[in-house]
Amino acid sequence: MINPAFIPDDFFKVLAPSDIFGADGPFEVDLGCGDGGFLLQMAAHYPERRFLGIERLLGRVRGVCSRAAVRGLDNVKVFRVESRYFLEWMMQPGCISRLHYLCPDPWPKERHHKNRLVQEDFLPVLHRSLSDGGEFLFKTDHEGYFLWVLDHVARSGLFSRASWDEDEFFYPRTDFQLQWEAMRKPIYRARFIKLQKV
Ligand SMILES: C[S@@+](CC[C@H](N)C(=O)[O-])C[C@H]1O[C@@H](n2cnc3c(N)ncnc32)[C@H](O)[C@@H]1O
Repeated sequence: MINPAFIPDDFFKVLAPSDIFGADGPFEVDLGCGDGGFLLQMAAHYPERRFLGIERLLGRVRGVCSRAAVRGLDNVKVFRVESRYFLEWMMQPGCISRLHYLCPDPWPKERHHKNRLVQEDFLPVLHRSLSDGGEFLFKTDHEGYFLWVLDHVARSGLFSRASWDEDEFFYPRTDFQLQWEAMRKPIYRARFIKLQKV
């Protein structure tokens, strides 16, 4: 039986994708993968790519792992760790092809904005972790967080915004997106491409 849980020997060691999957190749990360609906569909659709879900809640990690094992998906792993710690301290620079950050908690109150993952000092961390031409894909139902991300990314000068039409490529709805859409909430999305630093 496949075991999709990834538990490193050392939380202070920098990881290459091959340390997680045993091989190199296209590598995508789903930050805050939740119940894993998106992650597992992507892994099934793209067997040649490797997908790592990052999630801090143990119950969710266990649920995603057991569903990945039942489906026999050997290109997906789930790591219970805090998102920023993972990207800043554990991920080898330049190795993530696509970083998915989908329907996160928007921390809507102004006094809580400091809890949002996307901050001025987060964007260089994200930029460093992506491969050349790597992508950052973001979705939210919260207009305020959407505008916040657009503004921070534009001011960083580290990414260009790319088109992202609904059916431009295979991209399943996440569990939270399905819930928001059932409540008739709009979903905002943005796709950014890493620029080379000059
Ligand atoms: C609102 S849910 C969205 C889940 C999924 N992306 C979706 O759209 O269905 C946010 C998820 O991110 C996880 N999360 C929040 N902050 C995190 C952090 N700093 N590090 C790791 N996981 C985090 C939460 O536990 C939760 O499962």
